Amino acid sequence: MGLWASLQATRQNVLSIIPDLATRQPMVSGKTGKRWHMVMDPGAIRRMLLENLDNYPKSLVTKNLLRPAIGDSLFIAEGAHWRWQRRAAAPVFSHRNVMNLSPVMSQAAARSVDRIRASGPAAIDFLDEMVSVTFDVISDVTFSGDSAFDRDGVHRAIDAYIAEAGKVSLFDILGMPDWVPRPGRAFHAGGVAQMKRMADRAIADRAQRAPGDVPDLMDLLLAGEDPETQRRMSPSELRDNLLTFIVAGHETTALTLAWSLYLLAFDQDAQDRARAEAQAVLNGPTASGADVARLPYIRKVIDEALRLYPPAGMVSRTAMGPDTLCGREIRRGDTVILPIYALHRHHMLYDDPNRFHPDRWDRKPDRYAYLPFGDGPRICIGASFALQEAVITLATLVANLRFTPVQGRDPAPVMILTLRPQGGVWLNAAPV
Ligand code: HEM
Repeated sequence: MGLWASLQATRQNVLSIIPDLATRQPMVSGKTGKRWHMVMDPGAIRRMLLENLDNYPKSLVTKNLLRPAIGDSLFIAEGAHWRWQRRAAAPVFSHRNVMNLSPVMSQAAARSVDRIRASGPAAIDFLDEMVSVTFDVISDVTFSGDSAFDRDGVHRAIDAYIAEAGKVSLFDILGMPDWVPRPGRAFHAGGVAQMKRMADRAIADRAQRAPGDVPDLMDLLLAGEDPETQRRMSPSELRDNLLTFIVAGHETTALTLAWSLYLLAFDQDAQDRARAEAQAVLNGPTASGADVARLPYIRKVIDEALRLYPPAGMVSRTAMGPDTLCGREIRRGDTVILPIYALHRHHMLYDDPNRFHPDRWDRKPDRYAYLPFGDGPRICIGASFALQEAVITLATLVANLRFTPVQGRDPAPVMILTLRPQGGVWLNAAPV
């Protein structure tokens, strides 16, 4: 494709700007209006995310896309404003708190099995079904029992936001000048404003009542304090961060589960092993938080799904000053992209990289060759929460149901804000 045609094509699918070259070379650079680099070399990535972190803040594109929905929250903030929020929020996701919240995950997984059984032998879109599960979980652990919180309303607003505002185009990623027309970027301002109002009301309501027996994410964040500055979140900072957890936390985990089921549907041997493990470990039909450590094969399936279909298919940064990556000059203002999708399928880093092979996880790869959650100080704060939820849900589903593919309905991976399967993930599910 010529440059113009490829720019047009990538409006729909950012994945097509990650050329095959990116799965074979340590670094690919180019210039389309602005200088850009795709970095797949683990040492250079470590420099970007850890050693020279301050030189590589999140790109303006990322911030502009997300700020209308989640303000200057943890996901977007930089420097001191990021640091204190991260310190205040860190205990929220401690192992103990994640464990305490796992009954919510188990209940949502059990409800999903009931829904799937009730829908009979017809094929189901498992992306849709998994989004219901993970949205149930994140809204229950964020605004549990708040009558002021209109769950369906918020869900609709967030999905509309992701669908509309998240159509990242190559123009955005490569930082083309603003005068280039960018269709389809009409923000759902009304939906976002309504979502914020609902969250504000729920936070104001919560301040009026005592926390429940098991503190949820709102209670924990309300109690959060930066140990260094003693700063606590104002109601609007609290709201922006809670909405960040919802936006960052539900679709990504749903995608992980949908792709895991898809891969298992095509590999019945792997599915049988996953089922045998789950049935041996589970005490009853539903997995619990305590079971998670005893489900290593299920975890390998999830790690492999996150490798092949990382929900955050790429992250981008803007260089603040000069640097050298892989011996190549980086200049101030350059866009530096970490194409996680290409990194995870790199021929120099993985044997037979496009093959689904959960047992490859018996040997861990280089830390900076596998980055579904990013790394360094800005690593995903919700990673252990997401993995706990994914293992509980997948184990519960495979223990109760057998998944098989639906002929002619293969999803194509499309990268909008996250890497999504176009048309959904249609599978058959039968009770076992
Ligand atoms: C499988 C599910 C998930 C995936 C693949 C994922 C992926 C990521 C990635 C790649 C980043 C780093 C982005 C960058 O460096 O530009 C990130 C950051 C973040 N994630 Fe997740 N995430 C997941 C689940 C969650 C959950 C469940 C939550 C919260 C409940 C969450 C909250 C956040 C937040 C707040 C940040 C920003 C952290 C910071 O900058 O300090 N994520 N996530």
